[in-house]
Amino acid sequence: MSAPLPVVALVSGRGTNLQALLDEAGAGRLPVEFRAVISNRPDALGLERATAAGIQTEVVDHRAFTERADFDAALAASIDAHTPALIVLAGFMRIFTDAFVERYRARMLNIHPSLLPDFRGLDTHQRALDAGVARHGATVHFVTPELDGGPPVAQVSVPVHADDDADTLAARVLDREHRLYPLVVRWLAEGRLRFDGHTPYLDGRALTQPLLDPPELTDVAA
Ligand code: GRF
Repeated sequence: MSAPLPVVALVSGRGTNLQALLDEAGAGRLPVEFRAVISNRPDALGLERATAAGIQTEVVDHRAFTERADFDAALAASIDAHTPALIVLAGFMRIFTDAFVERYRARMLNIHPSLLPDFRGLDTHQRALDAGVARHGATVHFVTPELDGGPPVAQVSVPVHADDDADTLAARVLDREHRLYPLVVRWLAEGRLRFDGHTPYLDGRALTQPLLDPPELTDVAA
């Protein structure tokens, strides 16, 4: 068996996606080694989740920096000290400089709560309701300088119900996010998913569009 993939996760808030990843790794279903969880907010609940799982935590507080580039440089130094092969963005709410993204271009994943390319940016659930879409969901994608525009790997979809508000819809999507993110990270950790900086490949096949509701999702514990 190959060595577990060294990972650093970045969080800004409650960290439920991080928890899903920690749980899968803890259960032996995700061959990764969390080297650190780093937050830009000292009060992020995600840091407590990491500590509870025995993972080292660090804070790089964005409020200590006036220039975005200086924050990114400090964050990069903190990340690089752990020599990760993968950086997992798990609700990290800062926009990076292009230089930062390029530094980690082929090894940074994000989860976004919409079926990209629909609803990039914030307030995705309310915007999906306002648009009257029948289905909504989440996307795991590699990170490139274009905000929420990096190559998508896989998506999970849910129905939108007539009586949904943004909170009920968000909860339905989030439950599925917790299955989708560990699955995609597992593909990477197992060497099934590769990214050359432009195109993702799963099992050697170019993903010219994301896999929607991949069958393996049902195999991943919530
Ligand atoms: C999730 O909705 C994720 O898609 C988005 O930020 C939210 C993070 O939630 N990127 P959590 O911190 O993982 O609970």
